[in-house]
Amino acid sequence: MSKERIDQSRLPKHIAIIMDGNGRWAKEKGKFRIFGHENGVKAVREVSEGCAELGIECLTLYAFSTENWNRPKIEVNALMTLLVKTIKSETKTLMKNGIKLDAIGVRSNLPKDCRRELEEAIDATKNNTGMTLILALSYSAKWDIVNATKTIAQKALNGEITLEDVDEELIDKTLTTHKYPHPELMIRTSGELRISNFLLWEIAYSELYFTTVLWPDYRKEHLYEAILDFQGRERRFGKTSEQLSS
Ligand code: IPE
Ligand code: IPE
Ligand code: MG
Repeated sequence: MSKERIDQSRLPKHIAIIMDGNGRWAKEKGKFRIFGHENGVKAVREVSEGCAELGIECLTLYAFSTENWNRPKIEVNALMTLLVKTIKSETKTLMKNGIKLDAIGVRSNLPKDCRRELEEAIDATKNNTGMTLILALSYSAKWDIVNATKTIAQKALNGEITLEDVDEELIDKTLTTHKYPHPELMIRTSGELRISNFLLWEIAYSELYFTTVLWPDYRKEHLYEAILDFQGRERRFGKTSEQLSS
């Protein structure tokens, strides 16, 4: 699948990816799960570079969910160590590609060194003007919605807003994803057909794309395939096909 078949004038502004299947990839090879996570880094690099080259504005990668804290301690620790190492080593690739880094999720739950590396990389890339790469770390959509609800309720209690002020726009701008457009395309690898508490509000009208490719095997061609599939869809937003063509 070549990049040339993609219509540059109809690119999604924002792509979100549930990077799944690292454990199964490792298991297939008779290795420990962490071997799969380590090999997922190459796919992160490929996809970030691929999106940046195409001119995608935002890419959100689901790297660690709130629920992932419930995995065995040894895997959680290994993932956090890998994260620190990767953020450190990939900052130069981000700079080379003009990519700005951001993160969503409960940062205070991350180990100190992990948080420090993350914040340093966010700071180092803050003046880059290319794509924004958003890492969802210790993130869950329900957490974000609960948080936003509390913020809004507090404003109402303080008398800063009335009930009439609570609308979609207010919720949108209270979520931690408020700086970015909603993803038009969401991809999940590994063959699982679920959302696993990722961007629930923001994907209300996203096109969903599922592939059986395991994350460590994911390459630019797979990304191009997903975008091409997206471009072949009719996004009706509740209207009829005839309305769209007239
Ligand atoms: C995705 O791969 C990475 C994380 C959730 C951190 P998994 O670790 O979920 O791999 P599988 O789904 O068990 O194969
Ligand atoms: C979702 O994958 C979270 C990330 C990719 C970071 P999981 O592997 O944790 O999801 P479930 O548990 O299979 O739904
Ligand atoms: Mg999984």
